[in-house]
Amino acid sequence: MGAVLVGMSILSLTAALTWRGEHTSLIISIVMSIIAGLCTYSTLPKLRDSFIKANLSGRDLLKVSKTLLPETMGLPTAIIYLITLFLFMPFPFINWFEGAHVVHEDDPHFGTFPYNKLGEILSAMLAIQSMILLGFADDVLDVRWRYKVWFPAIAGIPLMIFYYTNKGATYVVMPIQLRPYLGELVDLGPLYYVYMGMLIIFCTHSINILAGINGIEAGQALVIGFSVIVNDLLYVFNNPDRHSVEAHLFSLYFVLPFVGVTSALLWHNWFPATLFVGDTFCYFSGMTLAVVGILGHFSKTLLLFFIPQIFNFVYSCPQLFRLLECPRHRMPRLDPDTGLLKCSTVRPNDKKPMGTLGNIALKILRALGLLKVFEYDKDGKIIECNNLTLLNLVLAYFGPMSERNTTIAILCRVLHMYQWPYFPIVDILYALDLTMQTLLTISERKAVPT
Ligand code: UD1
Ligand code: MG
Repeated sequence: MGAVLVGMSILSLTAALTWRGEHTSLIISIVMSIIAGLCTYSTLPKLRDSFIKANLSGRDLLKVSKTLLPETMGLPTAIIYLITLFLFMPFPFINWFEGAHVVHEDDPHFGTFPYNKLGEILSAMLAIQSMILLGFADDVLDVRWRYKVWFPAIAGIPLMIFYYTNKGATYVVMPIQLRPYLGELVDLGPLYYVYMGMLIIFCTHSINILAGINGIEAGQALVIGFSVIVNDLLYVFNNPDRHSVEAHLFSLYFVLPFVGVTSALLWHNWFPATLFVGDTFCYFSGMTLAVVGILGHFSKTLLLFFIPQIFNFVYSCPQLFRLLECPRHRMPRLDPDTGLLKCSTVRPNDKKPMGTLGNIALKILRALGLLKVFEYDKDGKIIECNNLTLLNLVLAYFGPMSERNTTIAILCRVLHMYQWPYFPIVDILYALDLTMQTLLTISERKAVPT
């Protein structure tokens, strides 16, 4: 396997490097992303024992056997991603190295090296790298939420400084419906930096709180990554504006290897998982997506790809802000008799009586049909209801499901409802999943889960 991988990598990279055309660096990025994915695929299983020995592990809580699995596997994944980006760095400047006559002909600074573009790439890499470091610290030290909530904003500082010194635009394009009142562009001034900070914090944490079942963290990051790629390609091949094309090419250079390594990680994290991705991966993926959204100037479009995460975040707020009790784990519960997942519940008045705000929040959710109440007391007060996460809501309303089907339901039915409404992705994923499971069972590479 190793020799085949190296041989294939050398061959395809040589072919990509010798090929010359309008999008040479894009082709090289695609080839390098595939190689990065294959490297991640073959490296992760080799690291399992070392991670378990180093106590970087966790119990698979939704299996009867509660198997010990290596955690923080987002770290090697992110390292392979960074190495890929380091090796790729010269290629966006290939035209400049070869005489600068393609990219900069109509540029007033024709002939000078595009330092701003280099700065953009370096600041993005620094932000992603800092986030990986802070994510790893969280995995090792299990930092409290009140501190770690600010981690992404700190890691995003290099990016914002670059944006400011590079005279980044601080206006937002208004939706067509609001243009008669507010105009086409609204300048947010310094508030734009607050918006960027909040976007970075949101993207990183929202992936981490839509978590807890096999494949969901890597799966959602992959879905968003693919959506960004489709959006970028539409711009690159359909847009005559050079600046817009360059911004989306920049995004592709970061997202393609991300999708490459994440696909491999998902393969191993898919039900029945042989490893966990850890907070390192959640932070790494959130920051990578936020960075491309900001520097690619499509942060509002990016937020559309995050609609399920936005829902999950808003829905979680009463528990996140402690209006009602928030247990350490809000993931669904395993019914050992059926092997299916059920929604997990919370008893908001058990430890201490819930405050007025908590009561109001639950009443609003119940009125909206977004709360499943399991027990009332004689005065009609809620004694037990579902934990406020999208996963639990889906299980509460659609009934118990296997862990794998819950992941697929969230990734396809919910995520794709917003993004590719008529795409038969559910069936394709079921078919792929079935094929994968059959192949794995035939080759006896994975134990059948208990
Ligand atoms: C976040 C969620 C928490 C959820 C947890 C699951 C909030 C505020 N926090 O916490 O409710 O329970 O993620 O990741 O919403 N695990 C599994 N199966 C999986 C993935 C994880 O059993 O497929 C378990 C493992 O024991 C693993 C642990 O979850 O060790 C990881 O939890 P961690 O990432 O530390 O939780 P948080 O991110 O703090
Ligand atoms: Mg986590």
